Amino acid sequence: MSSCGYCSRGESRGWVKRGRVTIAGKPATRSDEKVFASDVCVDGEPIEQPEGLLAVFHKPMGCVCSRDEREGTSVYDLLPERWSHRNPPVSSVGRLDKETTGVLLITDQGDLVHRWTSPRHKIPKVYEVTIAGGLKPELVSLFASGTLWLEGENDPCLPAKLELLGPEQARLELIEGRFHQVRRMFASQNLLVTQLHRSRFGDFTADDLAPGTWRFLPLPTE
Ligand code: URA
Repeated sequence: MSSCGYCSRGESRGWVKRGRVTIAGKPATRSDEKVFASDVCVDGEPIEQPEGLLAVFHKPMGCVCSRDEREGTSVYDLLPERWSHRNPPVSSVGRLDKETTGVLLITDQGDLVHRWTSPRHKIPKVYEVTIAGGLKPELVSLFASGTLWLEGENDPCLPAKLELLGPEQARLELIEGRFHQVRRMFASQNLLVTQLHRSRFGDFTADDLAPGTWRFLPLPTE
């Protein structure tokens, strides 16, 4: 119960005493009993995601992915508080800027964060981009070339797929996630990104979710 964020280890004794906890349908008698987490219910409800938590969140505009209160509303303020008390705690898989919307994965599985953010694993992230000013067809080959070098970086950007959808609309697919990468790629060509929405992260989308809402995903089996 404590590792799933319900209460502290100390508090769990009181929860058991007050009859809030059942094991396989029978009232629990000890808070240190070894049991299957999937058999435990608190206040009649099964323990949430006892084997590990993975969720897709539709990040709305205006919240940050950090936990630093000085930066304003955080995505963690919009997610169930219990998730932040889990051990290990949840974090986002990579980050989106305050003004970026769309798919953000949330998990307590550190190996997933590592696997899904490492460019070695080539997880595609797709962004819907709105630009102030005109997009030029030459950008497609430049972004695909693997030669675009952003200021302050040691290596050029890996080849990226750019699709021009209109004079100010484009779709960009990246397999890496450098700091402010999409905005900086366009800024390097004197183009200002005015709206940025991540429509896909690997196989995951948030099309069915209203901004600010989430749903659980099954943990990958390998
Ligand atoms: N690239 C950016 O510039 N910002 C984001 O939020 C994500 C990718």
